[in-house]
Amino acid sequence: MTDQFDASGRLRHLLTLDGLPRAALDALLDRAQAMVDGDEVNARLAGTAVCTLFFEPSTRTRLSFQRASQRLGADVLGFDASTSSTTKGETALDTFRNIEAMGVRGFVVRHADDGAVAALAAAAAPGSALVNAGDGRSAHPTQGLLDMLSLRQAKGRDFSGLKVAIVGDVRHSRVARSDLQALRTLGAGEIRVCGPAALLPDAQTLAGCVVSHDLDDALEGVDAVMMLRLQRERMVEGLVDSLEDYHRDYGLDARRLARAAAAAVVLHPGPMNRGVEIDDDVADGPQSLILRQVANGVAVRMAVLETLLG
Ligand code: CP
Repeated sequence: MTDQFDASGRLRHLLTLDGLPRAALDALLDRAQAMVDGDEVNARLAGTAVCTLFFEPSTRTRLSFQRASQRLGADVLGFDASTSSTTKGETALDTFRNIEAMGVRGFVVRHADDGAVAALAAAAAPGSALVNAGDGRSAHPTQGLLDMLSLRQAKGRDFSGLKVAIVGDVRHSRVARSDLQALRTLGAGEIRVCGPAALLPDAQTLAGCVVSHDLDDALEGVDAVMMLRLQRERMVEGLVDSLEDYHRDYGLDARRLARAAAAAVVLHPGPMNRGVEIDDDVADGPQSLILRQVANGVAVRMAVLETLLG
């Protein structure tokens, strides 16, 4: 895999949270928190161009990277795969190289294939920096960071006493992988993973987690619940019988959430399937951090872009 660090040990790309040292993770979270607290950023990236190169749909990640780039004073180029020359057969690599040739230095890339962003990073010119905005099932590192920032704000910096449940389609979730990696690095006290057997990942991904197929058990006494989107295409694959069955067994509503600690918080990366994995009374309820996560996403992405390009 492409190294995220350059020869001098400076973070050059952000491709994954896997193996990212605690100090680097803390530094990004501390910088993001300073942004939330109103730290002046003063057009730090003026004169730098950033392209949001998304080969898959997105609302939160793409727009919050654009917002973050604007707040840092960068020029922002949006790329829409559906109206691009990829529809004529141009490859992702040729697309990237052409935009790089226009003088763009920052690339925020989402792609359906595992490893696609790392492959582009391996081909990048020396001055270019890439951020993985989600590749296949592998990684969504800025989502992992914004989730950790949201948890830190709610529960404090010390995660050692924290019990966290990750619920739903963990198997296909790049968000869950990045969250699991970050929670381990930050020393979370207990990580529970809950979902139907068909939607849980391999043993290596689950290492050190308490695994359950019973949501009521998994919620007992937890401090945070991280709900995941049910990817409806899994029904076509036969991995889920019906939305109604999934909601009955793994949907989070206020009655179920009462099993968690009284001050428990609920996270969801979005987009939500309301009435499937999460009900309105939780999504819009007092324990929900969901819009706080979105707000934190802008700050986290500013911290990442500033670190890589500043
Ligand atoms: N959480 C997330 O990645 O949302 P989008 O797909 O809307 O970017």
